[in-house]
Amino acid sequence: MNPEEIRRDFPLLKDVIYMDSASTSLTPEPVLASILEYYRGYRANVGRVVYRLSRLADDLYRNAHRNVADFIGAEEGVVFTRNTTEAINAVAQGIKWRRGDVVVTTASEHHSNLLPWMRLRDMGVGLKIVKPDPDGSFDPASFEAAIDGDTMLVAMTIASNVLGTALPAREVSEICRERGAPLLLDGAQSVPHLPTNVGDLGCDYLCFSGHKMLGPSGTGALWMREYDLLPLLVGGGAVEEVDLEGYTLKGGYEGYEAGSPDVAGGIGLAAAVDYLRHAGMEEIALHEGRLTRRLLAGLLDIEGVEVYGSVDSRERVGIISFNVAGVSPTEVAHLLDEGSDIMVRSGHHCCMPLMRHLGLPAGTVRASLYLYNTSEEVEELLAAVEEISKMA
Ligand code: ALA
Repeated sequence: MNPEEIRRDFPLLKDVIYMDSASTSLTPEPVLASILEYYRGYRANVGRVVYRLSRLADDLYRNAHRNVADFIGAEEGVVFTRNTTEAINAVAQGIKWRRGDVVVTTASEHHSNLLPWMRLRDMGVGLKIVKPDPDGSFDPASFEAAIDGDTMLVAMTIASNVLGTALPAREVSEICRERGAPLLLDGAQSVPHLPTNVGDLGCDYLCFSGHKMLGPSGTGALWMREYDLLPLLVGGGAVEEVDLEGYTLKGGYEGYEAGSPDVAGGIGLAAAVDYLRHAGMEEIALHEGRLTRRLLAGLLDIEGVEVYGSVDSRERVGIISFNVAGVSPTEVAHLLDEGSDIMVRSGHHCCMPLMRHLGLPAGTVRASLYLYNTSEEVEELLAAVEEISKMA
């Protein structure tokens, strides 16, 4: 992986230091080119018609599913969605729940992996919420205690979008296997950054966002071990046969993608996956690990700065939440933008229950790193935070 070469593919980086990839990533030129190529060269719908433009679009859209499946070590089972949120909701709405079923989740989840289960709770499904230690880490024993024969689904994130801390997904996967509980993993903050293999993870559903991994905005994916869910939407394009008595859905992903899909988005997401593969997921993880170590150490050295979550960079992805004493997170983010062209997120990060648990009503400042960030940028962030800390 050559960071300088990579940065040339992201012209926006000439003007800003972008450290909000946990929210949404930037998009490299080859991904943009693949989208333009579709719109200019073979713009047509998929799965419906026989003329050659459509056949080409259909082939590339179908290949895009295979490509994304391959990226997570699967042969098939990938359905395109708008984002992780839609993927999780598709599981929540797609399981045939029965009275007495229970979902187990955690208090560290993004709202998108909490609200769908709260909605089921309002409809009579049980909900157990495993709480982290005060520093945001989890003891696998708390999952041992929560998962039992009534557990119909365990839904947890692989890495916290606030703290960057890794949750014990593998240990939980083993508990789930022993107890026969299906496992949904939210891979929004891990799939873009770490080599991923659904076989190794031992999950039944993996949800992730294309727009956080160099893909176009409005793209995401749901992988399922078996096509065993009721589709979130039904309608055109997803059916084999319809008469006035009923319908038969198509097999595979097509039965789950009713309506004209985002063909450009799917093709762009496949181009993003090619880009990441070319850069090398192992190398991306190493690069981000180096930057994270330096950023953590640097922030911990600044007086008046508090860092949240584990300070062991081996237990983290490249997301760091911190606060500067006497300056609100929103103000810090404004100052970083206006004074240093540094883009970071501030506030509750769609994780209000975790913020309450950590006693941080105003939230945190969050810097999140990706393959295009450099050590020089990390030093600029550290210098800017130090300046802000002196103002307080
Ligand atoms: N899930 C995104 C974030 O954490 C929006 O910022």
